[in-house]
Amino acid sequence: MADPMRAEKVTLKDGRKVVVRPARLRDAESLLRNVNLIGREEVYILIDEVGPNLDEERQWLGTFDGVRTVLFVADADGESIGSADCHGGRYAKTRHVGGIGIAIRDGWREVGLGRILMERILEWMRARGFKKAELSVFGSNGRARRLYESLGFESEGISRRHLLIRGGYEDEVLMGLWLQG
Ligand SMILES: CC(C)(COP(=O)(O)OP(=O)(O)OC[C@H]1O[C@@H](n2cnc3c(N)ncnc32)[C@H](O)[C@@H]1OP(=O)(O)O)[C@@H](O)C(=O)NCCC(=O)NCCS
Repeated sequence: MADPMRAEKVTLKDGRKVVVRPARLRDAESLLRNVNLIGREEVYILIDEVGPNLDEERQWLGTFDGVRTVLFVADADGESIGSADCHGGRYAKTRHVGGIGIAIRDGWREVGLGRILMERILEWMRARGFKKAELSVFGSNGRARRLYESLGFESEGISRRHLLIRGGYEDEVLMGLWLQG
């Protein structure tokens, strides 16, 4: 079985190459850029903008242990242009569940990277013994929802009008995937 924490060079559908690997402390700056670039688009993730606090970002990066939590990045010549993370449940009742988040910078979307990052996260979850993957997605984010559905995720619940996005209320969809046995 391949090491789920490996660094692997992958070729995207447009021919560009990136390395998918666990995050390192030196990714802090480009990960901050990512969250702010994607956050300012307003329509995909909860955060609109985080402060420019590199120390906090490094501290956060230091919390991923590769066992119960992981953050994978897609590294394009030293710049992390996308990432996917998983946080394992902290209580006995939820330890079998891992919550996933994923975000790819504009300009690197729809060329296969989302699928590659999601597959790596699910591979890591299976290797670490998780039984269930969960995530939530904004109702209007058809691209993300179709990616998750194509991986076997099913809608498990809807928080109606849970989000206020650009002046309109929108649903949040909870999705889950049973991983084994
Ligand atoms: C959502 C996101 C992770 C998808 O990753 P991606 O790299 O753009 O998608 P991929 O190229 O890997 O495509 C994967 C699947 O998504 C779906 N998809 C891609 N582009 C699509 C489009 N324009 N319309 C509908 N579905 C689309 C397809 O099912 C596709 O399947 P395929 O592999 O058979 O082509 C990425 O676009 C992203 O990070 N967007 C901004 C932030 C965000 O929305 N994060 C998710 C929050 S829940």
